[in-house]
Amino acid sequence: MKDLISPERFRSNAPYPAVTIRDGDQRYARMISDAYTGKGSETTAIAQYRFHRLLLNELPDIYTAYQHIAATEMIHQDLLGNLLKNLGMAPKLCSGTVNQFWSGKFPDYRCKLPDIYEADAQGERNAIAHYSMLAERIKNESMQALFRRIILDEELHLSFLNSLIAEFR
Ligand SMILES: [Fe+2]
Ligand SMILES: [Fe+2]
Repeated sequence: MKDLISPERFRSNAPYPAVTIRDGDQRYARMISDAYTGKGSETTAIAQYRFHRLLLNELPDIYTAYQHIAATEMIHQDLLGNLLKNLGMAPKLCSGTVNQFWSGKFPDYRCKLPDIYEADAQGERNAIAHYSMLAERIKNESMQALFRRIILDEELHLSFLNSLIAEFR
């Protein structure tokens, strides 16, 4: 269980690609704001992992692992927030697709094991699907590369959670 507590396990070592913004890319800001702070967003992931972490304090390795996952989600949140800013949108916690501020109702509050792991794994699967959709719909290669890079981290989180779920079987 030793490598569990290494932050590298929860972040791919590939660099996050820089984004080059072109004329007309501003139209993508709303869509990106939903990944930043909508219901299935990085902001929700951070809140959900931190909530679940508090319930896992009797499992010190998992507790630490959750802390590292949340730290990676914070990097993703920053990447998207900076991208929004560069696209001319203030990075408020408000999804432009539904025009709705972030809400404490968004995280999944399941609070028993293995339900906690199932809820978080579902969040990762949704995030991967969300970034794949963005990479298809947004016609800017540098943004597509950023979304694909973020997916690498989400896949690490998902495989970790899947290994925890497997221990219950
Ligand atoms: Fe993320
Ligand atoms: Fe993740």
